[in-house]
Parts: sequence; C-alpha cells; structure tokens
Amino acid sequence: MSATLHHDHDLSRANTLGLPSVAERFTAPRHVEALGETLRMARTHAWPLTILGGGSNLILPERLSGLVLQPAMNDWWLEEAQGDAVRVHVDAGVVWHELVMALATRGLWGTENLALIPGHCGAGPIQNIGAYGVELAEVLESVHVVHLDDGHETVIAAADCGFGYRDSVFKRTLGGQVIITRLVLRLSCKPKPRLGYADLVSRVGQNPTPLAVAEAVCAMRQEKLPDPAVLGNAGSFFKNPLVDAQTAGSLRADNPDVPHFPQPDGRVKLAAGWLIDRCGLKGWRRGHFAVHDRQALVLVHLGGGSAAELLAFADAVAARVADRFGVVLEREPRLA
Ligand code: FAD
Ligand code: EPU
Repeated sequence: MSATLHHDHDLSRANTLGLPSVAERFTAPRHVEALGETLRMARTHAWPLTILGGGSNLILPERLSGLVLQPAMNDWWLEEAQGDAVRVHVDAGVVWHELVMALATRGLWGTENLALIPGHCGAGPIQNIGAYGVELAEVLESVHVVHLDDGHETVIAAADCGFGYRDSVFKRTLGGQVIITRLVLRLSCKPKPRLGYADLVSRVGQNPTPLAVAEAVCAMRQEKLPDPAVLGNAGSFFKNPLVDAQTAGSLRADNPDVPHFPQPDGRVKLAAGWLIDRCGLKGWRRGHFAVHDRQALVLVHLGGGSAAELLAFADAVAARVADRFGVVLEREPRLA
C-alpha cells in the first residue's frame, strides 16, 4: 500500500507564512504502512527528506529537492477512564486545535490552555508546544516514532524526550532521525484548571469548564495574534530569551518595567516581544515583511516576499535588540 507521489508540488498554501515554495516530490501517507513504503523508496533513491506538518513553524525555501512527506494518518481515540485519568491516542496528522476542542467538549482537562495553536499533533513534541502557562510535556505520556534509517518503530516515554522550553530531543539527538506517527496523552476527568496566566482567571472565574477555558484562550489569542489565513506568519518569530540573573539584574536597573520570569535553574526568562517593542519596532516595515502592530514578537509576510528576505528582516530586528539591550534573540521557526 503506497501513497501517491506528486511532482513539482506547490507548497505556498501549505506554510502559514505563505512563502512561495515547490517540492520536487510530495506525498501524504494516510496509513503507517504507506509511510513505511514511502520511506523505503526514499532510502532506495537516497532522496533528501523533509517532514511537513501544518507548516506553521517552518520557513520554506523556493524549491525543496528530494521528498516532502506530510504524515496524514488522522485518527484518534480514547481509552476507558482509569480512576480520574483517560488516555488519548492521536495520529500525527490530526489537527491539534480540533483535538483540543473535541477533548474540552467532552469535559476532559489537560490541553485546554493550548487551544488555537496551529499545526498537526505530530509536530507538538518537536518544540514542546506551550501557551498560557502549560506545555505539551505536562500531558504527554509517550510518542510513537518510525526511524528513518531502517523503518523500525519505537515508543519513547515522555520522560525520555528531553523536554524544555520550546525544546526536545527531537531537535537535538533525534533531529532528522525519526518521524513522529502518534502521541499518547493522559488527561483528567477531574477538574484541573490552570489559571495562573494573567487575564485567564478574570475571563473564566475560579470554576470553569475546560471548554470555557479553551474558548477564553481562543479569544485572547485572536485579540493579539494575526490569523495566518489573512496575514502570513509563523507565530512568535523568536523564543523568549533566557539570561543569567546578573544580566537580568542590570536590565532591570535600567528598565524597571521589563517583564522578567525567574526560572527554577536560576536563569531569568525575558519577553522578546517587549524588547522588540521597546526598540520602537512595532509596525516597522521593510520590503515585504513587517513587525506585527499588535504583537511585536510576530513577523508578518505582506505578500510577494521570499525566505531569504524574511531572514534578513529578522536579522535586522534581532540586531536592534542586541544593540539596545545586549540580548541575543534566537529564531523559533525552523528552516526546512
Ligand atoms: P510544521 O511547521 O509543519 O513543522 C515544524 C517542525 O516539526 C519542522 O522541523 C518539521 O520537520 C517537524 N515535524 C512536523 N511534523 C513532524 C512529525 N510528524 N515527525 C517529525 N517531525 C515533524 N507554538 C507554540 O508552542 N505555542 C504557541 O502559542 C504558538 N502559537 C502560534 C500561533 C500562530 C499564529 C502560528 C502561525 C504558530 C504558532 N506556534 C505556536 C508555532 C506552531 O504552531 C507550533 O510549533 C506547531 O506545533 C507546528 O506544527 P506544524 O504541524 O505546523 O509543524
Ligand atoms: N509585550 C510587549 N509588546 C509586544 C508583545 C509583548 O510589551 O508587542 C509584553 C507583554 O505585555 C507581556 C510580555 O511581553 O508583558 C509577554 O507577552 P505575551 O503574554 O503576549 O506572550 P509572549 O511571551 O510574547 C509567548 C509565546 C507564545 C504564546 C504566548 C501565550 C514564546 C516565544 N511565545 O508569547 O507562543 O502563545 O506566550 O502563552 O514563548 C509561539 O510560540 O509561536 C507563540 C505564539
């Protein structure tokens, strides 16, 4: 059972930045057997492989040679509850936000703060998606993967995924080594609201349903983040920088209102959006790209631009922040 292979496949609508891009070959296997067959073919021909999910955290070049593979297995199911806990098994191609809303509608707790994060479930562990005080790692039990070198399948426990802030083993030692085919999440039937993020509790009160939390998160996100269907973007373009306590201390001395979040390891997380905003760059436009006028951490594509132009624009933004605050910004979206 093999998946159809498309040649010179247009990817400009398959990435939320809306960058023009063409894949030499493209396939979207709907079953894990078809995925295995496709990988065998790629190995035989030594085609370079690019894995694509929903394209919401990727910067695509104008042409991708080799094979672009988009896992399209899209089933999910719940196990019977055991005490207060319920396991959910989710294929890589399921749209993350649709899963979140389906689970919240069933009254299950765990993923509601992660509503409206674009993309597919298979990409969630790559950068350990996070928002509104919650990270995927907190509800993930294990990850099913297929190894690219010989096609064997393994299950990796969440504890072995090396999760951190926007980080995992899938970006490091397992980077380019595996395709994630399925996630197993562990949710709670018992109320477990996480309302620590400023604004959330004022919108939903102390005893919300998971659906009320998910809907409030969607509303908050829609107020500041541009909809990629309207304005091309990849969400936050930079990670929030982690600096040592001394650097944070001198920044605070010069800028008493700088948002700063002490971390368990002694470092301090800063808000990259605030730093960019303070450089006066909100709404700054150059060529086909701009700093979003409601959230300075989001770079938007106004149409007609290229990946190279976007990267040069991002470098210019980061250089302004480095000049003014001495803080280095690291890119969040990945280069394909
Ligand atoms: P893609 O962009 O297609 O791929 C991302 C990376 O994962 C690539 O390196 C790709 O090769 C790899 N990959 C994808 N699928 C697989 C797989 N099955 N196996 C192995 N590797 C794979 N992120 C957050 O964490 N929090 C947010 O709040 C958030 N908000 C966003 C808001 C907007 C408007 C946008 C556009 C993006 C936002 N993001 C956020 C970033 C993005 O949504 C997430 O990183 C998401 O998980 C990417 O999913 P994707 O399917 O689009 O992955
Ligand atoms: N801020 C400004 N000006 C701006 C933007 C932000 O002053 O233009 C300030 C805010 O006032 C606030 C602080 O910076 O004090 C943080 O802003 P916000 O709460 O909007 O969140 P963020 O740090 O910019 C992070 C994630 C988002 C996630 C939100 C909500 C990163 C890189 N980004 O953004 O994730 O949705 O928190 O939890 O960690 C993504 O990764 O693509 C993404 C959108």
